[in-house]
Amino acid sequence: MPDSAPQVTIRAIESRDEAAWRGLWQLYNEFYERTVAEEVTAAAFSRFLDPTSTFSCAVAEQSDGALLGFVTWMPHPTTSSIEPALYLNDLLVHPDSRCGGLGRRLIEHVYADADAKGAPNVYWHTQHFNHRAQLLYIKVGRLTDRRKYTRH
Ligand SMILES: CC(C)(COP(=O)(O)OP(=O)(O)OC[C@H]1O[C@@H](n2cnc3c(N)ncnc32)[C@H](O)[C@@H]1OP(=O)(O)O)[C@@H](O)C(=O)NCCC(=O)NCCS
Repeated sequence: MPDSAPQVTIRAIESRDEAAWRGLWQLYNEFYERTVAEEVTAAAFSRFLDPTSTFSCAVAEQSDGALLGFVTWMPHPTTSSIEPALYLNDLLVHPDSRCGGLGRRLIEHVYADADAKGAPNVYWHTQHFNHRAQLLYIKVGRLTDRRKYTRH
């Protein structure tokens, strides 16, 4: 039987993706039960495309052009190694496309870019109750003993 499942490509975000990315961003913000101001959303998107920004974003694009997920990341200097560390900031797969390996592929895309940038130490956070995400993270990463604090 021929495999008619659409192919999915992981690629860098482009300016033409803004409307579709905003749809995914809305889902991501609903997942976190937060509201992000329009000026913050606009600034985030413009940073992805700014060659002088360290911010990167990749999308999972189906062969029909639909965007099924995205990931964002940035390298930064650190005192604990000569090479930069790399922070994976956001990760979302559309609810209709989960459990098909896209989350893993998006993280592996970040790993590949981290290696290319000489910043192999990739790290990220998740909520302790986000068990769904952790089912993936235990397969692609290692759980640390750190806790996150913020000023506000
Ligand atoms: C977390 C998220 C990105 C994962 O995306 P995904 O595409 O569903 O993940 P994948 O399909 O690549 O990986 C799921 C892995 O978990 C495993 N898994 C999924 N459901 C499972 C279950 N019920 N029991 C055991 N393992 C399970 C799968 O076997 C798979 O492992 P494999 O690659 O070895 O097969 C997605 O659920 C999401 O967007 N969630 C909402 C937003 C969010 O939580 N973002 C992360 C914030 S830190």
